[in-house]
Amino acid sequence: MNDKTSELAASIRSIPDYPKPGIIFRDITTLLGNARAFRRAIDELVQPYAGMKIDKIAGMEARGFILGGAVAHQLSAGFVPIRKKGKLPHDTVRIAYSLEYGVDEMEMHRDAVQPGEKVILVDDLIATGGTAVGATQLLRQIGAEVVSACFVIDLPDLGGRKKLEELGVDVRTLVEFSGH
Ligand code: PRP
Ligand code: MG
Repeated sequence: MNDKTSELAASIRSIPDYPKPGIIFRDITTLLGNARAFRRAIDELVQPYAGMKIDKIAGMEARGFILGGAVAHQLSAGFVPIRKKGKLPHDTVRIAYSLEYGVDEMEMHRDAVQPGEKVILVDDLIATGGTAVGATQLLRQIGAEVVSACFVIDLPDLGGRKKLEELGVDVRTLVEFSGH
């Protein structure tokens, strides 16, 4: 870990035994509230894509909206919200995805991305990968090209990054926390 990433890691608050005993919650609100850390995180997320022609950033509700909006602005790309079911008013595509405990459904507007458009997924964290795998499938279902997926935090012990890479998605992360 270099100085920059250790500074980023230090800006993330770790809360033991939340939301249940044995889980350490990685809280990015402290990163977001720290102007320097927030800027650095966005700069680092965007850096690998400099000069690429990206059509859309897809952000996963809710924390992916905050980071994804800033990344979209920096890359001069459009922003597409992938929402938990029942929130979008127009015609949607929907997919079931697995959570650490159970399943849920996410959806996006059918006309939010055109076939062949180049999309980057953005979220705060990848854990089991259920959310990002679901979002990738949803985007591919409507013919989008998922160029890459980026996250501030990787929890490698939970295997999500590997799952996403096995689907052929380029994955970028800034900070790893092991022994969750
Ligand atoms: C958290 C986090 C990621 C997801 C990662 O979101 O923000 O989106 O879990 O977990 P996974 O890799 O195991 O799918 P959460 O569903 O808790 O909701 P929120 O962003 O609305 O707080
Ligand atoms: Mg989330």
